[in-house]
Amino acid sequence: MSEYIYDASLEDEHTRLHALEAVLDPGSIRVLETVGVQKTWQCLEVGGGGGSIAYWLSQHAAVVVATDLDTRFLARVPASNLEVRTHNVVTEPLEENTYDLVHSRDVLEHIPEREAVLDKMVAALKPGGWLVAEDVDFMGALRREVFGEKNDLTLLDARLWDAAVTGMKSRGIDAEYGRRLPWRLSARGLIDIGADVRGTFVGQRVTEGMTLHELSLQQLRPLVVSAGIPEGDLDRLLEAVRAGEYMGIGPIHIAAWGRKPA
Ligand SMILES: C[S@@+](CC[C@H](N)C(=O)[O-])C[C@H]1O[C@@H](n2cnc3c(N)ncnc32)[C@H](O)[C@@H]1O
Repeated sequence: MSEYIYDASLEDEHTRLHALEAVLDPGSIRVLETVGVQKTWQCLEVGGGGGSIAYWLSQHAAVVVATDLDTRFLARVPASNLEVRTHNVVTEPLEENTYDLVHSRDVLEHIPEREAVLDKMVAALKPGGWLVAEDVDFMGALRREVFGEKNDLTLLDARLWDAAVTGMKSRGIDAEYGRRLPWRLSARGLIDIGADVRGTFVGQRVTEGMTLHELSLQQLRPLVVSAGIPEGDLDRLLEAVRAGEYMGIGPIHIAAWGRKPA
């Protein structure tokens, strides 16, 4: 059974999920507008997390089902056409041939059984329905070389994320799944495949990107340390991020979409 790497029991996880939403929602919404979500649609949001996309869908579609292992945050979303379901997408079934749209963001990368889950998500689509899957890509090779200007802090950041990615891999997480998505959708017979690639930047003034970077690294501390990075190095980087002394180009996100033939 899959075990989610971030600790949802922490209040920090709520803040982290909101920061993730603030960074990613504009791009996700642009993609959902591109596939053309309609007022008549039945939508499924898998691993809905903090609930911002479930909320957006509830405003633009007829019915939304939002699932997650932990639905505490989804339960707070104020929408009468939203059904919140405590559900493990690995071990529990999804209705087949039911949805006009199935969406997930930053969920598949965490799940070792991601290919079987993607099969299930495709099966849940009505003929003609759209799948939109979004995942991160830490661009491991580029980051090792530092994607941006090399200095003491960006080199340290590259070492920390490299360690985190190695640790994630050992736990079945694919931190480069984003780049694979268009091909994974095409291999399942979806058509009209498209993708959007967007980057993130952590700048020197307090932004959601900075909060996301800091809280993610904070939660990944045990992984990073177990991969051989001294805690002092992690603390030094976190301090620099908080003090606004760090600037860096973060991971990219890839949203891919495709339609089930009618
Ligand atoms: C990084 S968060 C992303 C949340 C949200 N999709 C977003 O982008 O704002 C990943 C979410 O996937 C959920 N998740 C992880 N494994 C899951 C599983 N097996 N079944 C359902 N949800 C899962 C987690 O609980 C968490 O809310």
